[in-house]
Amino acid sequence: MAEANIDNSIYDKYGDRWYTAYDDPVALLRAESAIKTPWILKRIRLMATGNVSVLDVGCGAGFLSNELALSGLSVTGVDLSPESVKVAAAHDGTKSVHYEVADASRLPFPDQSFDVVTAMDFLEHVEDPEAIIREMGRVLKPGGLFFFHTFNRNFLCWFVVIKLVEWLVKNTPKHMHILRLFIKPAELDRYNLSAGMKTLEITGIRPAFRSIPLKSVFSGVVPESLRFKFTKNLWLSYLGMAIKKE
Ligand SMILES: C[S@@+](CC[C@H](N)C(=O)[O-])C[C@H]1O[C@@H](n2cnc3c(N)ncnc32)[C@H](O)[C@@H]1O
Repeated sequence: MAEANIDNSIYDKYGDRWYTAYDDPVALLRAESAIKTPWILKRIRLMATGNVSVLDVGCGAGFLSNELALSGLSVTGVDLSPESVKVAAAHDGTKSVHYEVADASRLPFPDQSFDVVTAMDFLEHVEDPEAIIREMGRVLKPGGLFFFHTFNRNFLCWFVVIKLVEWLVKNTPKHMHILRLFIKPAELDRYNLSAGMKTLEITGIRPAFRSIPLKSVFSGVVPESLRFKFTKNLWLSYLGMAIKKE
């Protein structure tokens, strides 16, 4: 039986629930962002100096864009969903982020425009991630950094990220994730290489089980206490950094 297509129209319906809902997997995205953002910021600070320009592709409601802007970076966020971009702009405390509706397969920027490009929880939402990574590599300056976070394609990831979330989180939208679009780390490494980028670092991420109170497991709601942690194991999701060759 053919697998269904991913439904990216769900991101047009969240409104402020991007920032407030706990009865929806978007709460997992917020909890993950809490460890991804400092990891990324630390590496940008170590590797890039001066006025750093960042393009956040598939920025959604701006969880990363808005935090990077608060840290003084010049941020542009693009997403296919006009409604998400509106929410992102409304939550931009600096009012400095340039938000734009755009398709990642045709980024509306000249070659070599940005010092940093990011793709958080985004690559598993497109049919041709290799072409999209090539497009992101095009707008990255030589020596620029590419940060990515996505899901591994294996049985465990299907069970935890698709099935457990569907069973345990009340308002999980249908076809929010599709196993065939998950990406193995070796594939992503290859896509980076074909875009002229070299993967420098990669780390796994998993929920910190101690942050999940037992009574919340079958409540349908993501507990506010949920935290994610880094792990050497790349079986579930992974966060990484690549550099564009000079
Ligand atoms: C899971 S959300 C991640 C949002 C954000 N990066 C985060 O980490 O919170 C995936 C986002 O990718 C966007 N998206 C899907 N296909 C896209 C495309 N072709 N171009 C730009 N954005 C796209 C969706 O609209 C959605 O906002």
